[in-house]
Amino acid sequence: MDCEKFVEEQITDIRQTVADAKAINALSGGVDSSLTTVLGHRALGDQLKTVFIDNALMREGEPQRVVKTFADIDIPVELVDAQDEFLSALAGLTDPEEKRQAVTDTFYSKVFSQLVTESGAKFLLHGTILTDIEETVAGIKRQHNILAQLGIDTEKAYGYSVLEPLKTLRKDDVREVAKSLNLPAEISERIPFPGPALATRIVGEVTRQRLNTVRKATAIVEEELADSRAFQYMAVLLNDRATGIRNNKREFGQIIVVRCIESIDARTATATELPWDKLNLICQRIITEIEDVNRCLYDLTPKPPATIEYI
Ligand code: XMP
Repeated sequence: MDCEKFVEEQITDIRQTVADAKAINALSGGVDSSLTTVLGHRALGDQLKTVFIDNALMREGEPQRVVKTFADIDIPVELVDAQDEFLSALAGLTDPEEKRQAVTDTFYSKVFSQLVTESGAKFLLHGTILTDIEETVAGIKRQHNILAQLGIDTEKAYGYSVLEPLKTLRKDDVREVAKSLNLPAEISERIPFPGPALATRIVGEVTRQRLNTVRKATAIVEEELADSRAFQYMAVLLNDRATGIRNNKREFGQIIVVRCIESIDARTATATELPWDKLNLICQRIITEIEDVNRCLYDLTPKPPATIEYI
């Protein structure tokens, strides 16, 4: 694709649409919202306010790391603590769609709409990509960042219009554009991480304690697979327990699934053929470093029929 032309067109379009109004966007640190943030700032400068909402569902140290990455490229990002709002909305929910809906509703109706009102923004920049739209419209999964395509009039519902500069791109195009803008590799090469974050990697109820478990497992998997060159890798906490034995005592422990996949655009995926030693090492670390986890499984399922995330 012609990255330069794409960037120019989007910057012009954002500028013309927003004119002298204010805009806002939420950055998650993923390549989609990062590229949207950079395009938005190039188009609008300080007319655009960028926030990072700490929804309690992020990885270890992630909010602070993302804010710092953008500070290093001179883009100010405001960190907003909304942990309690998200956790109370998720309390008691086990159905995957209800969990996704709770994250979406808390994000838009509660936390973000208040930030929009306070900022006086009339436009919201969103990092929706083509795959998000296709999968939501096809009913495969409700993506966190889809509104207009579901017939939701954001102007009426939330008081702002949504701009989606990346909606014609797939993940590989997004990375190409990010690279063409010389963005740091931690942005352009960052592995995809979903909007509802670790909530998509907990089967069953999302609680602080269960988040801590999956967060620790995620840190181990990401550390061990950083050089795997896989498309995406993750840890998932199942909503089941298995009998085990530790220090001569029977225990009914938790189960972590490790998933590592090859994909071009996340529409289809296959499991990575990881070396046995590496799998063993990850398993050993997970069952010894994380309290209460006594099983670790490697997921071989392709997409389809499985999706990449677990909810
Ligand atoms: P699935 O699980 O649907 O994931 O096979 C496809 C790709 O999309 C990511 N994903 C999301 N990204 N908001 C996002 O921005 C979401 O709600 C969401 N759910 C899944 C997932 O990590 C994978 O790369």
